[in-house]
Amino acid sequence: MKHQNNDDELIDFSLAAAILCQNDRGGYTIPTDGLYPFQWSWDSAITALGWLRIDEKRAWQEVETMFRGQWDNGMVPHILFHKDAESYFPGPDVWGSTDGIPSSTISQPPVWATTIRVMYESCRDRSFAKKKLQQLLPKLIAYHKWWYRERDPANTGLVCSYHPWESGMDNSPAWDDPLAAVPEVDWSYHRRDLGHVDSEQRPHKPEYDRYLYLVDFYKRNKFDSDRIHANCPYKVADIGIISILQRAGNDLLDLCQIASHMDGVEELQDELDRTSVAINSLWSADSRCFLSRDLITGDSLDQITTATVLPLFGGLGSDIQAEAMIGLIDEWLDATNFGISSTHPDSNRYEAQRYWRGPVWLHINWMIATGASDYGYPAIEQRIHTTSVDCIKAAGFWEYFDASNGNGCGGDNFSWTAAIALHWLNTPA
Ligand code: DGY
Repeated sequence: MKHQNNDDELIDFSLAAAILCQNDRGGYTIPTDGLYPFQWSWDSAITALGWLRIDEKRAWQEVETMFRGQWDNGMVPHILFHKDAESYFPGPDVWGSTDGIPSSTISQPPVWATTIRVMYESCRDRSFAKKKLQQLLPKLIAYHKWWYRERDPANTGLVCSYHPWESGMDNSPAWDDPLAAVPEVDWSYHRRDLGHVDSEQRPHKPEYDRYLYLVDFYKRNKFDSDRIHANCPYKVADIGIISILQRAGNDLLDLCQIASHMDGVEELQDELDRTSVAINSLWSADSRCFLSRDLITGDSLDQITTATVLPLFGGLGSDIQAEAMIGLIDEWLDATNFGISSTHPDSNRYEAQRYWRGPVWLHINWMIATGASDYGYPAIEQRIHTTSVDCIKAAGFWEYFDASNGNGCGGDNFSWTAAIALHWLNTPA
């Protein structure tokens, strides 16, 4: 099934800009009102790309505000709870982190250095950008070092994730099996997300019970890295995080070069080299993509999701692997009216509207299209661009979209969708 796109009809970019202004809370942008009232790390990184098109200084401020919440050990938390808000659960009291800006105690896909590279390269005020870059580089390096030190202490080349929320793709069917092995939390709680979004579009309760068990687990272990690494009941080598970290690491090296900042560069290069080799252990010729791995059981997590082709974005596939992934994506785009569905529609775990189990996410489309372009597949880049435009034309700036009909799902007036439109869909592929 193919959806006819009419590229003559334009997206309302002034509305996209208005959404960022409306979600601005003074130095940081919330993803959407009510459902997500704080600063989320990867949302914020993508949103900065949108700010860049409206107000360069505001884009740099978005980054700086996030890095003000960086932990002493280098971690950038996935949520900064700048102000109290009753509309979200779990809040800072549940996470239990009390130092500095209240925050969650896990991270999120580390796309920051990639964002900052785009910002540096596209900005008009280069000297201002250079000053900001100099200030941010040590923080970015500390963040990347944190991933390798804390999440790959055995130097395997594959960092691990301790929570499905860390992947950003919370209820992806790829996490079903490792998450099922996590105990359920033994206290009751009131979910706030279901007061904002139809339950058909959100994760189920058994998943939340385990998400919260893990949050408690870190707190019980006093956020001690060694204890958590030894005993965490959920440890996944997530191909999405690994790919985004690899691209961001290469971007960070280039930024260091630009700023003549050589401190930490050699170590970073070694880590990137190690990942380039180790990634092959996740390749599946049968699936034509890279699969995440449960590091507790050693099982390959064989669901085909958009994370499995993100090695294109990370520059992690050989030319032969890239060609296979591109073939997979081409057929995947044929299989739905709007693409790319977060889970392949042939999966028996596919659900059209349920968050990461089927819907289309435009920031992921941007990453995959960018990777396709890097590997020399402009026609695929164009297809992904066109189908992304179609989503917005069909429904507006929603959090995610039903791949069968383009209906908007999750939160409306969503910052990263507006930002991706401003950054990517504003220009022809
Ligand atoms: C949520 O609450 O849905 C978030 O994805 C957690 O980061």
